[in-house]
Amino acid sequence: MTYFGAMQNEIYNAGLKGILPPFPVDFATLERRAHEALGPSLTNYIAGGCGDEHTQNQNAAAFHHWGMVPRMMVDCSVRDLSIELFGHKYPTPLFMAPIGLNGEATQDRHGDLAAARASAMTGVPFCASTLANDPLEEVKKACGTTPAWFQLYTPRNRELAESLIRRAEAAGYSALVITLDTWVTGWRPRDLNASNFPQLRGKVLQNYFTDPVFRSLLARPPEEDPAAAIFTWAATFGQVLTWKDMAWFKSVTRLPIVLKGICHPEDAARAVDHGADAIYCSNHGGRQANGGIATIDLLEDVVRAAGDVPVLFDSGVRSGSDAVKALALGARAVGVGRPYTYGLALGGAEGAAFVLRAILAEADLLMAVNGYPTLADVRAAGARRTDR
Ligand SMILES: Cc1cc2nc3c(=O)[nH]c(=O)nc-3n(C[C@H](O)[C@H](O)[C@H](O)COP(=O)(O)O)c2cc1C
Repeated sequence: MTYFGAMQNEIYNAGLKGILPPFPVDFATLERRAHEALGPSLTNYIAGGCGDEHTQNQNAAAFHHWGMVPRMMVDCSVRDLSIELFGHKYPTPLFMAPIGLNGEATQDRHGDLAAARASAMTGVPFCASTLANDPLEEVKKACGTTPAWFQLYTPRNRELAESLIRRAEAAGYSALVITLDTWVTGWRPRDLNASNFPQLRGKVLQNYFTDPVFRSLLARPPEEDPAAAIFTWAATFGQVLTWKDMAWFKSVTRLPIVLKGICHPEDAARAVDHGADAIYCSNHGGRQANGGIATIDLLEDVVRAAGDVPVLFDSGVRSGSDAVKALALGARAVGVGRPYTYGLALGGAEGAAFVLRAILAEADLLMAVNGYPTLADVRAAGARRTDR
């Protein structure tokens, strides 16, 4: 059994030799230092959200009004944080949420490969975004033996959508995560004030530029005429999806289908009826719609409506205790988003792996102290709202 909390002993023992941890273990310091490293433009894109960012801020703040009650006289000397998903046993209940700007987050602009290496180093599965600086085949290889999932932004062009799915299958991804809330970009004042939308500057489009169907839409290849390729990308980016599209997805792939962006219990129930293999409760980190409700406050109802279908969760997870609360409220797996991208910005694969390990260490030690040796105990203990 992996003892994630041992990271704490490593840090204290290194301190005896005068060695401090290479990266911050708390989110506030991580965020501040990452913003310094990223510079204003990338910080705006990664840290920014929709409207006045109320929903985004609530995502993280709302974890504070959930609390857990410890149990005593329980043997917690061994903890089991493993989960089962899509027929595979994962050593941890975390995953790396798809972040379509990972590619730009590292100095070498190959942040997708660095994120994949962090996944290989930690066993935390990486959900690779359609928007990437390196093709999905290379990203999958860099994940090593850790299974990876592919997140699809469904293009309007069906042949292109199918081509991306086929490539993901051929590359060995083990789930298809279809993002439902982003056929159009939400209103993001930080980026608008700076007139900056990275994709229109040709960033993170390598999955398109390397795709045979996409290339066949162009008069000249992207290497010769990038402006025309970007224009074609913009014209084909976002398909509005409805429930009718599920039949098409199910007809083109045998990969487990995960629907990302489900926050309403009725949508969760419809997703189950339409054959979704997992539901991904997320509001895109508050980047797509403002005026919403913190996702953690919606999770319990979504889990109830999903029945036996597993629910993945993200939005606002900043620490191990946040992750344990989401698990207590019924998430099968918990997505880490901005924190690992900040790790990439500070230290590439090692930085992202450190952030994931720190979250796991805190989660493990919290379970130890709270008397929850397994995730089933976490779930049974549940979490309570403290503000009502
Ligand atoms: C810079 C950035 C880029 C993102 N790109 C994608 C993406 O390509 N596909 C996707 O489904 N979600 C994307 N997301 C949303 C994340 O998958 C996840 O839902 C979100 O980061 C969770 O919020 P948090 O990071 O505040 O915890 C992105 C989020 C950020 C911050």
